[in-house]
Amino acid sequence: MYKIVAKERLCPVVDCFEFEAPAIAKKARAGQFVVIRVDEVGERIPLTLADWDASKGTITLVAMKVGTTTHKLSSFETGEAILDIIGPLGLPSEVENFGTVVCVGGGVGVAPIFPIARALKQVGNKVITIMGARSKDLLFWEERLRAVSDELIVTTDDGSYARKGVVTEPLKEVLEKNKGTNRVVAIGPAIMMKFCSLTTKPFGVKTIVSLNSIMVDGTGMCGCCRVSVGGVTKFVCVDGPEFDGHEVDWDLLMSRQRMYLEEEKHSFELWKSRQCQCSS
Ligand code: FAD
Ligand code: FES
Ligand code: MG
Repeated sequence: MYKIVAKERLCPVVDCFEFEAPAIAKKARAGQFVVIRVDEVGERIPLTLADWDASKGTITLVAMKVGTTTHKLSSFETGEAILDIIGPLGLPSEVENFGTVVCVGGGVGVAPIFPIARALKQVGNKVITIMGARSKDLLFWEERLRAVSDELIVTTDDGSYARKGVVTEPLKEVLEKNKGTNRVVAIGPAIMMKFCSLTTKPFGVKTIVSLNSIMVDGTGMCGCCRVSVGGVTKFVCVDGPEFDGHEVDWDLLMSRQRMYLEEEKHSFELWKSRQCQCSS
């Protein structure tokens, strides 16, 4: 069992959990993820390591409520425990002094971009971070990201806070202004990562994205997380999760993400009706 030592609601749909997980905290590296199971009837879902503290023996996971499992997870409170967490999984981010790096985090992608930006800053890069959300109430970790960035640009789609618009607009401007930018790292919804990659392509700047394909085992056995990168089949859980965004077959990724929509909808309706029965 993995105990929750702290829980914070970052915004109405996003929770931050600190779990006691000393073995994972000891090995964690930026860019890696874990697979969790909330209880014995729960499915397995991947969540990225948003932070960790090896001395305290804790890891931090940030989860957006989208369906059955993330809603179930959100119902857990400090002091309670979930069934299991396996990890760290996946290859760590490539961290070296590239020069100037732009980190882009969209929506819940702000959480996984944080340890990557921090690691890139620690090895001497100039880090320009762009973070975006649909509206002000969905923004979180602005100060955390500011602390690990040389420059921070915040956007909201509806203009309710900071700059109005989507992250690709400042991304283009930053690349125009900083001609020597060596690398872009973008994490967020697939559509955002696709458009970030399209934005950076004409500038010829290597663009790393963290793919969020559906996963089951997380160890390369089931084939569920299959994607195509540069025309070659890759498994996100063991070959990634980070890949060159200019090489990703985005249409395939997005169509595979929607493969179980009907089943997910059905499962969520069932879960909600059980919750109603329990509370009445
Ligand atoms: P459902 O209603 O079951 O699914 C909603 C959508 O989520 C689906 O349409 C599908 O596209 C996706 N999804 C469903 N099941 C899975 C699954 N087993 N694996 C992956 N995607 C799935 N989300 C966060 O909020 N924070 C994170 O840090 C985070 N990190 C991730 C890291 C990786 C490597 C991957 C692949 C995904 C990550 N996700 C993260 C996405 C998260 O795993 C899904 O939102 C979650 O599985 C949805 O489960 P659900 O039952 O609540 O929703
Ligand atoms: Fe099964 Fe990647 S999740 S092979
Ligand atoms: Mg689910």
